[in-house]
Amino acid sequence: MKGKTLVISGGTRGIGNAIVYEFAANGVNIAFTYNSNEELAKEQVKDLETKFGIKAKAYPLNILEPETYKDLFLEIDKDFNRVDFFISNAIISGRPVVGGYTKFMKLKPRGINNIFTATVNAFVVGAQESAKRMEKVGGGSIISLSSTGNLVYIENYAGHGTAKAAVETMVRYAAAELGEKNIRVNAVSGGPIETDALRAFTNYEEVRDKTAELSPLKRMGRPEDIAGACLFLCSDKASWVTGHTMLIDGGTTFK
Ligand SMILES: NC(=O)c1ccc[n+]([C@@H]2O[C@H](COP(=O)([O-])OP(=O)(O)OC[C@H]3O[C@@H](n4cnc5c(N)ncnc54)[C@H](OP(=O)(O)O)[C@@H]3O)[C@@H](O)[C@H]2O)c1
Repeated sequence: MKGKTLVISGGTRGIGNAIVYEFAANGVNIAFTYNSNEELAKEQVKDLETKFGIKAKAYPLNILEPETYKDLFLEIDKDFNRVDFFISNAIISGRPVVGGYTKFMKLKPRGINNIFTATVNAFVVGAQESAKRMEKVGGGSIISLSSTGNLVYIENYAGHGTAKAAVETMVRYAAAELGEKNIRVNAVSGGPIETDALRAFTNYEEVRDKTAELSPLKRMGRPEDIAGACLFLCSDKASWVTGHTMLIDGGTTFK
């Protein structure tokens, strides 16, 4: 994977950050985005370049405006000579999810639409732009992060869970049409993973304890658990894996 380039949204924290470090440790150059944490992103660029001797660069992006992916990729073209992997990872929280992250009877179209935009539309535009670049280098691998909250009930998760179900379907459509360009498209669906997004859940402690209890491995997921699956799906070891959703749930969904 050495010398290839990963583009990933939301590389500053949580799962995105673990993916960035996993790929960098394998010699992959990294173009990652941040939203609110510019200083943190700059420090991470330095850290990645020093620790792993790769090229890294951070760019601002708001996934609530997916069309801006087009300008972002033009910037990336100036800094990197190729794009091999794209991971749609960033997720919104706070004010934009009001009316989306709530109980069914309190759902509001604006909140639901924001989550759909950030999850599905952002994946579509980011994947389209990356696919154009991948075609030039003979192929690539695209991943959308998903969540088991589209399979099992999670309190207040109707907006997110529904958007994740939609993005998994979009992944299969993209896979069906991009295969002829040697571009594989998959989803990685996580059970509850210890990150800021999960700590913001109103019932975080309950979810944490219940997950550890349900999992045969008796612990909650870690960002690194998801990063390993992404590395596999982008590697040649996964050369016939496409249109697939890989569940990384510590065995919790079955129970
Ligand atoms: N945590 C879980 O339990 C879990 C389980 C399954 C799937 N997932 C999925 O994994 C992905 C990452 O989740 P996470 O838990 O790692 O999230 P997180 O810790 O909250 O990190 C969110 C990331 O998204 C960026 N971001 C926030 N608002 C943004 C915006 N408006 N535009 C662009 N970027 C924005 C943040 O950048 P700044 O730091 O610059 O604000 C940050 O890098 C999501 O797709 C999530 O649904 C999470």
